[in-house]
Amino acid sequence: MERREAFKKIGIMALAGTASLLFFNACTNNETETAVAPISENSANDSVAAPKSAREKLIINRQKVSMVDPQNPTDFELKHTPDLVLGTTDEKGNTSLTVGIGQKGIIHPSTPEHWIDYIKIFVNEQLMVDLQYMNLPIRPYGQFYLQLKKGDIIRVESGCNLHGIYENSITVS
Ligand SMILES: [Fe+2]
Repeated sequence: MERREAFKKIGIMALAGTASLLFFNACTNNETETAVAPISENSANDSVAAPKSAREKLIINRQKVSMVDPQNPTDFELKHTPDLVLGTTDEKGNTSLTVGIGQKGIIHPSTPEHWIDYIKIFVNEQLMVDLQYMNLPIRPYGQFYLQLKKGDIIRVESGCNLHGIYENSITVS
């Protein structure tokens, strides 16, 4: 009888130990799954910013800059300021807008370290065009066709990675 009782106790202890191990494993696995659960790319709680590209790291000035004396702009101001030319209107009512960066023949450089990194075109403060440029030998210049009416205000921004954001505006007459 004593031997049978001893085996019975050993059996109960072994079962209890196994149950404890299973419970421990279940808890541990749950914790692990929670810890490594992937975060949705669109998660509203995702506060980790994407790493900057080599190009983005070179964009160090996002300050808006105004001409000190618009009647007497310096060469430095002229080479950063968008040049805007309104052209003809086609039969569907789209008016040509030509945008270059730099005025009076003073052209902004386009080098890997110093370049115009974006232009944006707004009509009555509605963003219409948003273009980014790589730090490669390309000079920003473009022609666009916009539905415009008399009194519309076209504002164009140009961003220089080193010298900030310059702008120019024209009103449709
Ligand atoms: Fe610049």
